[in-house]
Amino acid sequence: MPNLALHPLPPPSCPGLAVTALAPMQDVTDLFFMQVIASYGSPDYFFTEYFRVHPSSTLDKKILRSITENPTQRPVFAQMIGESIPDLVRTAKLLSRYPVAGIDLNMGCPAPRIYRKNVGGGLLRDPEKVNQILGELRQAVSGRLSVKMRIGFEDTASFEKMLALINRHGIDLLSLHGRTVKQMYHGAVDYDRIAQAVQQLNCPVLANGNVTSATSAAAVLAQTGAAGVMVGRSAIRNPWIFRQIRQYLSGQAVTPVKLAEVREYIERLRQTTAALTVPERARVSYLKMYLNYIAQSVDAEGAFLREMRLAQTEAQLCSVLDRHLLSDPNARFNLEPYPGLLARPGSEAARPTSAAEQICVGSAG
Ligand SMILES: Cc1cc2nc3c(=O)[nH]c(=O)nc-3n(C[C@H](O)[C@H](O)[C@H](O)COP(=O)(O)O)c2cc1C
Repeated sequence: MPNLALHPLPPPSCPGLAVTALAPMQDVTDLFFMQVIASYGSPDYFFTEYFRVHPSSTLDKKILRSITENPTQRPVFAQMIGESIPDLVRTAKLLSRYPVAGIDLNMGCPAPRIYRKNVGGGLLRDPEKVNQILGELRQAVSGRLSVKMRIGFEDTASFEKMLALINRHGIDLLSLHGRTVKQMYHGAVDYDRIAQAVQQLNCPVLANGNVTSATSAAAVLAQTGAAGVMVGRSAIRNPWIFRQIRQYLSGQAVTPVKLAEVREYIERLRQTTAALTVPERARVSYLKMYLNYIAQSVDAEGAFLREMRLAQTEAQLCSVLDRHLLSDPNARFNLEPYPGLLARPGSEAARPTSAAEQICVGSAG
């Protein structure tokens, strides 16, 4: 018999407030980044990058470290991506032996090389397969079992079916990105669908998609009635966001951030890449991945964004950083991204030989 008992969420850090989670982001939310985020004010929950699951898969050692060495004092959910039921069950049981808050299934990844294999967002095209996977996983996982998904693949035709499956299999938590897979990271987020999920599901829902600030978190919570918000790209841009959300929701003033503090944050990000034995070009590209997001709140005209993109060497990059962030160190970092400034590396889409991947390989040992 499937275990239909709902497991309550782990206690939040501020009882009574809506919960927050750092969204899983491949090549970003590793042990090091979790530690950096935690130092600025942890979310209530972390999620690992996804563990790939297939017949010959083993647990990725680097991702496993974000569980076994989790320095944040906050619970971490282990995310899996895959479609082979015996291997998902095998991996879920393996992961359950570690100190995880729960096992999370990725049903949202929009990268074509992923969804074409019918994993991640690709699963949303096949409700019967989802029914089987969730049924088997529910039997195998005695602790929390959670799902992260989008509102559909091409459209929302199967959305209600998916919600019914979440209820049928006693899923403990749904993180819902209010876009379809085909929308990738663009276009409006459909918060009404998230509100619908909140209404229809027996489990708590984390609203995800374009939560950009404390005020936007409060607006999304009001519109959806969700138990909490999950924040991805805006946490890269502004690692203070979880503390700010808690301040705002509890009626306190949101502590502003100075550009000099942003310079320190970037320096911490740089320290990790600087220690690695990868070429300078790869280190620069890796840092630029973060800077693409951060730059959205530095100046409205996008001068910092343009100049940092042109930098080729670490020295050039540091000089751009110092010029823009330390010439008026007490100037405010904008709480929202400035309109019209787009971060280009906005997805986990295929980039097999990217700098980020080189860095990950470099840090794996
Ligand atoms: C660089 C990057 C990597 C991502 N990797 C994952 C992942 O491994 N698993 C997952 O479920 N979602 C992944 N996502 C999606 C995010 O978790 C989140 O759903 C999405 O970014 C929308 O939230 P946001 O608007 O707050 O960024 C990734 C997103 C980005 C930008």
